[in-house]
Amino acid sequence: MTQMTNPTRIALVTGASRGLGLVISRVLAGLGYGLVIGGRDRKALADAEALLSHDAPAVVTVAGDITDAAVRADMIEAARRMGGLNVLINNASELGSIGPLLTFDVPRFGRLFPVNVGAPLVLIQLATPLLADRGGLIVNITSDAATGAYPGWGPYGATKAALELLTRTLDAELHDKGVSAVLVDPGDMQTRMHQEAYPDQDISDRPLPDVTMPFWTWLFRQDFKDIHGQRFTAQQEDARWLQRV
Ligand SMILES: NC(=O)c1ccc[n+]([C@@H]2O[C@H](COP(=O)([O-])OP(=O)(O)OC[C@H]3O[C@@H](n4cnc5c(N)ncnc54)[C@H](OP(=O)(O)O)[C@@H]3O)[C@@H](O)[C@H]2O)c1
Repeated sequence: MTQMTNPTRIALVTGASRGLGLVISRVLAGLGYGLVIGGRDRKALADAEALLSHDAPAVVTVAGDITDAAVRADMIEAARRMGGLNVLINNASELGSIGPLLTFDVPRFGRLFPVNVGAPLVLIQLATPLLADRGGLIVNITSDAATGAYPGWGPYGATKAALELLTRTLDAELHDKGVSAVLVDPGDMQTRMHQEAYPDQDISDRPLPDVTMPFWTWLFRQDFKDIHGQRFTAQQEDARWLQRV
């Protein structure tokens, strides 16, 4: 753990050891947020901590699977000890196996709903008292697979569609508490998850997740009450954010 001062603003980011989660954390660090970051690979998480500590006033790592209740509790406790919570990013996600729905048997859902839907929901439940104290923001990372019918992507897409409905409902339920929730579809990016989806393809033509940095910089500067309930596309020309950069 790196902690020099008690930061004024604090964010919790799941799946922050690489890919999109690390990019979001870099933006938050640059804006002066203290960070609680998660992921299963301890070495990758320690490397992320070292990188983020250049800018972030404090970084705490919590290693472990997001479906583990103790891991989620440790993350929330770390934020509480740092002083509270302004932003919760539910980014950690798994792809499961890609394949046509006609050959799909129900047990193959396996970890998909617990990781992609259950864990974010319980983390939100735990985080809400801290977020309510600070007029906080919940960001749930979604995908175009939640809304488009892509052959083979049905199971993963179903979990993201469920996450989208939960997010909209939570935003309506939490509005009176002063907590806002938004969805962000980051678009195709050159990451480990994307390579797993296309194991035999060269994916070097896809942009690195850094392409989303202007969007995150814009998002975290907003009055969170003004953007509640919205769904953003981080790469496309989305007038709701590009006009205001
Ligand atoms: N890449 C794309 O093209 C794309 C497109 C649309 C949406 N997305 C969404 O963007 C988000 C980030 O994906 P990415 O492409 O950046 O993937 P990634 O590079 O594979 O990163 C995933 C991150 O989540 C962590 N993670 C995965 N499963 C976890 C678990 N069960 N418990 C705790 N941490 C876990 C990983 O660390 P460990 O493996 O060490 O745990 C890693 O830090 C996901 O929600 C994904 O659905 C991605």
